[in-house]
Amino acid sequence: MNVVVFGAGYVGLVTGAVLAELEHHVTLIDVDPSKVAMINQAQPPIFEYGLENLLQRVRQSKMLEATMDPSQAVQNADVIFIAVGTPPLPDGAPNLDYVHQAAMTIGQHLSENRTYVIVNKATVPIGSANLVEMWIDDGFVQKWGHPISEGVFTVASNPEFLREGTAIHDTLYPDRIVLGADHAWALERLIDLYQPILGQTFEPPGDIPRPLGIQRIPLISTDRLSAEMIKYAANAFLSTKISFANEMANICERVGADITTVMQGIGLDTRIGSKFLNAGIGWGGSCFGKDLAALIYTAKEYGYEPALLESTQHVNMQQRKGVIKRLQEELKTLKGRRIALWGLAFKPGTDDLRDAPSLSVIQELLHLNARVIVYDPVAMDNMRKQYPHWDIRYASSALAAVDGAHALLVMTEWDVFRQIPLTEIMSRLDFPVIIDGRNIFDPEEASRLGIRYRGIGR
Ligand code: UDX
Repeated sequence: MNVVVFGAGYVGLVTGAVLAELEHHVTLIDVDPSKVAMINQAQPPIFEYGLENLLQRVRQSKMLEATMDPSQAVQNADVIFIAVGTPPLPDGAPNLDYVHQAAMTIGQHLSENRTYVIVNKATVPIGSANLVEMWIDDGFVQKWGHPISEGVFTVASNPEFLREGTAIHDTLYPDRIVLGADHAWALERLIDLYQPILGQTFEPPGDIPRPLGIQRIPLISTDRLSAEMIKYAANAFLSTKISFANEMANICERVGADITTVMQGIGLDTRIGSKFLNAGIGWGGSCFGKDLAALIYTAKEYGYEPALLESTQHVNMQQRKGVIKRLQEELKTLKGRRIALWGLAFKPGTDDLRDAPSLSVIQELLHLNARVIVYDPVAMDNMRKQYPHWDIRYASSALAAVDGAHALLVMTEWDVFRQIPLTEIMSRLDFPVIIDGRNIFDPEEASRLGIRYRGIGR
């Protein structure tokens, strides 16, 4: 099929590249010329496992092309994805300006001699399918001066569930595919598009093998509103699960229990499940915070007080503050203290800093006049670019950051950090204080070595 993807960010780029690997002709449209150039040279503009190899393959096979000019590709498309950003506004509502622009552009380039399925892939507020339909109509009217013929296009919802760091894996081997469409022909076209994934009939790439036991991917086909709601409900549930683990951790810490064993103890109950129960400094990233805020906003628009969702948010914010509180309990004043901070990215496997807990911790440390020395295996370049005025020091290695520091804070659970022996850290710290925001070290070993170790919930 001819596929067009608006927005070459995490979602659009990965979705487009995977569809090209499955032998669809994919055109990525983006307004950023440097991004377009990089993609065409098979250089990923983001850090994502397996993406460079994938881009090389689909550029070589000529199945994927990036461009700033949507006219030709849109006109000849069978399926058009809208995967542009929907960043949060100060009141929690998502900013739909980019979606609006993309929809208008699509409307301007549709031809009445074809039919098009236009897919909302970006996470958009419930009811946005209707809105996007209206904007596409507006674009067409703007160009041709009359409304588009009935049945030329329809908007469908196909939420993404890919996680950064494992985005290609999650796209090739998803737990499910959700399709929300109001017309049977649109649903059939999307099922055809995804057939290689649904039936797992493609040859898996060497670097991202198919997990054992995967044969068919479950398909949920439903109305558009339910599909949109599934995305919000999934992220609300996952973030609530983590906030639940964090609340239990705070109670564990007070009563003297160990959260890691407690969560293991409940996770083995198949009704609960063991994933997303890691307590720590809380969730971040581009999705959870934004989607939770948007769902809360929507609930309130309809006069409903979403008490559980608001608590999920509240617990998460408290977790971040808890880092500074623990540090103050150990060091008292933080003025002039050298604080080593391991991990900037909101989670391992990515260089993404969006809503990373490390950012609020660094800001507070700077506010308290501490000297902050950071190390992250991949996210330091982004940090330098995005926060050039922050008065922080960048270390050349994890251990260099710790040299002569008064405390170490662990913000992201990169594997390289786990492999560093506590004895090595201890020998370099000026004060033996470790605040382990991701519970990567063994508290007993730390205490044997005389380290003042503070994990989360243990
Ligand atoms: C998330 C969703 O998982 C994905 O389905 C959605 O479409 C996009 O948002 P992502 O933001 O890439 O994906 O990260 P995810 O792996 O879900 O982690 C989110 C945050 O939760 C991270 O900050 C992570 O450190 C934190 N987390 C995760 C925990 O604190 N504890 C856990 O047990 C799991």
